[in-house]
Amino acid sequence: MTFSRRDFIKSAAAMTGALALPWGSVRAANEFRTLRAGLFDQALREGGPETNFWGFDGSVPGPLLRYRKGESVRLTIDNALPVDTAVHWHGVRVPSAMDGVPHVTQAPIAPGGRFDYEFVVPDSGTFWYHPHQMSFEQVPRGLYGAFIVEEDRPVEVDRDIVWILSDVKIDATGRQVEDFGRILDFANDGRLGNRVLLDGRLAGEARALEVRSGERIRLRLINAASARIFDLAVAGHTPRVIAYDGQAVAPHEASSLVLGPGMRTDLILDCMAPPGSRHPIADRHRRSLGPIASLVYSDEAPLRHTPLGAPIELEPNALPEPDPASWHDHYIMFQGGMRGEPVIGAVDGKPLRSHEIMESHGLAWTMNYTAEHEHALMHVPLLQLGVGEHVLLHMVNDTDYVHPMHLHGHFFRVVAIDGRRTPLQEWRDTVLMAPRQTMEVAFVADNPGDWMFHCHILDHAAGGMMGTIRVA
Ligand code: C2O
Ligand code: CU
Repeated sequence: MTFSRRDFIKSAAAMTGALALPWGSVRAANEFRTLRAGLFDQALREGGPETNFWGFDGSVPGPLLRYRKGESVRLTIDNALPVDTAVHWHGVRVPSAMDGVPHVTQAPIAPGGRFDYEFVVPDSGTFWYHPHQMSFEQVPRGLYGAFIVEEDRPVEVDRDIVWILSDVKIDATGRQVEDFGRILDFANDGRLGNRVLLDGRLAGEARALEVRSGERIRLRLINAASARIFDLAVAGHTPRVIAYDGQAVAPHEASSLVLGPGMRTDLILDCMAPPGSRHPIADRHRRSLGPIASLVYSDEAPLRHTPLGAPIELEPNALPEPDPASWHDHYIMFQGGMRGEPVIGAVDGKPLRSHEIMESHGLAWTMNYTAEHEHALMHVPLLQLGVGEHVLLHMVNDTDYVHPMHLHGHFFRVVAIDGRRTPLQEWRDTVLMAPRQTMEVAFVADNPGDWMFHCHILDHAAGGMMGTIRVA
């Protein structure tokens, strides 16, 4: 279950190949490509027993999609699942009709049906794809994959590696436990797996990322877990973060890498430890199941003795800049969960007490005093914004829980946390809100449509922390 050298050479070769493709062949490759969502078995470790998964093209994660900035993407989703689905391109600023949200932007794709997604990728960065239908079940079953958009001028590195983290809940016989949709998970920390997966195989200290001393690696981390938060640290190394959620950030050292569900971090890792050494990559989160992998240095002589001098700052994407002089204040307060005070809220326009919300609707959270079913037609948007409106969104977390809040179709700047200006003013599409925290995020509502705004702990989203923001 280690990463074989051969896998690395394969992925490195695939990447160099993609970069070397002349424009002509990139275009030629842009016919409709089909991704088939289906059921299959896959071993958690090489040669180990097989586990039941749902996934794209028979593998977990699904195929790694790689494009260039400005390229047009044509993807057909072929639904070989026994249930409806629809696929969302998390972080890609697509037109609303291509956003993959059933009942909001499209009709669900029925079993045996297909749907064509076609859009231009405006931003470079690390994104991902996953269903937005019954996501609390379909994503942890294995339906997710990486969606990478190359910069026009990428930073110089020796290797570019994508890691998708997730987890699964496995029973004594090695099969997935199918206890999706429990109200106890909806109303608490979400449904956690009991095994961590790195690229669809068991994570752990024995998983080796083989490196050569002196190498510079760009590591793209994606958290595809439905509820698990990671807090990673590479022993003996201080990686530098160059992007959050695909968007450039001032490069900075980060000894602790926190990724909530849905979030991505791009790192530059200068491997300057001696040949032959080994360094675990720990997960220090309180719900951690142990290290996720190890950096394993080969015995080869160092490639270089001082880190590569090339700049690591990414060229920023052209995101519309929110202007403090003209932004409008909007507010969303979050309430609910098993811990904390009982709340009141409306479901389908009817005011209810928390036990009624839970018992008669299976919901546990409210946003501005409303709880929504994941698949209810969301007629009443949480917020109505004008096209081009500059927005300062105040998010008030009145719960005892952490929530990775995600907005579709836009990126926002994280402006302030608990009233204090953030040092990086970073762009994100998903931000981790700590218990009882207040957060201000700013953006320009320039993409017309109904956009989902929800917690990316997928059980919380299904439990009511999901609504739409209308830009019209
Ligand atoms: Cu990654 Cu609304 O989703
Ligand atoms: Cu949440």
